Amino acid sequence: MDTTTTTAAAAGQFPLGGDLPVNRLGFGAMRLALGGSVRTFEAGIAVLRRAAELGVNHIDTAGFYGFGDLSAHELIREALSPYPEDLVVATKVGPLLEGGVVPTGQAAAGQLRGLVEEDLRRLGRDHLDLVYLRVGGMGPAGGESIGERFAALAELRGEGLIRHLGISNVDAVQLAEARSIAPVAAVQNHFHIHFTGDSGVLAQCEQEGIAYVPYFPLGGGGARIDHARLRDVAGRHGATTAQVALAWLLARSPVTLPIPGTGSLDHLTENIAAAGLRLTGHDLAELGGRDGEADPADAEKPTS
Ligand SMILES: NC(=O)c1ccc[n+]([C@@H]2O[C@H](COP(=O)([O-])OP(=O)(O)OC[C@H]3O[C@@H](n4cnc5c(N)ncnc54)[C@H](OP(=O)(O)O)[C@@H]3O)[C@@H](O)[C@H]2O)c1
Repeated sequence: MDTTTTTAAAAGQFPLGGDLPVNRLGFGAMRLALGGSVRTFEAGIAVLRRAAELGVNHIDTAGFYGFGDLSAHELIREALSPYPEDLVVATKVGPLLEGGVVPTGQAAAGQLRGLVEEDLRRLGRDHLDLVYLRVGGMGPAGGESIGERFAALAELRGEGLIRHLGISNVDAVQLAEARSIAPVAAVQNHFHIHFTGDSGVLAQCEQEGIAYVPYFPLGGGGARIDHARLRDVAGRHGATTAQVALAWLLARSPVTLPIPGTGSLDHLTENIAAAGLRLTGHDLAELGGRDGEADPADAEKPTS
């Protein structure tokens, strides 16, 4: 595989909310500020600028992605503003830090305006392209009404502060509830090659033309994306297992928009090159593609 010249555009485009075209392979900014390897301000800036050079025009962030002096929002603003016309910055509101690093609480409907205004200020924008209502903790989705909170965000959309609305960590019932209130442009749920239990919501998104943004597209890092068949397919293409996992997501449905995260320039280049990797029907059958699921023996439990 050519990892030097491939850009995110090779993955094709998707019209977010019908009117914001993005390259289907994007970038998740959480790891620039939170978790994993040691991060620095300079490294974060370099990764974000290189991502933009490599054609990434869909970046996922949140006000609660921060640790110490580092925060994803401030890194994005410093690295990329004045923002390119075609850049979509997606943010999430809902979780409350309550003084810690990991969110422990959830904002009530009446608190969402303040969180959106804070995102606008910190990102240095006069409106936000895509705002998700991020629901619940890190456990399985579902079990609570999101209507009141989603309606509060819909009101902010009506005022022009938000262009499109999304929901994150939701089940099919919550998706239906949100759609009864306002258009849903994107769903961001836990999904990757070893964690495919959300296929029903993905199918629904595909049917309705809603973007499906699989979070933890590389399983959240470590050695979680790895098994013999993945290595076989990677070997046939001269690719890495991470690249195959991303190409699998891109092949899984035309509405998937993976947002792999990294603080490493080398991993960034490797991940973006996956935009040009085309898996064959044989590869997909072996991996558990569109018409099949990954071997349950490979399935991974949620890790956090
Ligand atoms: N809505 C939600 O509830 C939710 C939850 C979690 C995440 N997210 C979003 O989803 C995005 C992606 O999730 P994530 O970053 O946690 O997980 P991920 O993309 O699945 O994996 C990122 C991890 O894999 C490593 N990695 C990246 N590229 C690699 C490569 N080519 N080879 C080997 N290792 C590689 C990274 O380490 P290095 O830095 O060392 O490369 C990092 O530790 C986040 O940035 C965030 O925007 C949303």
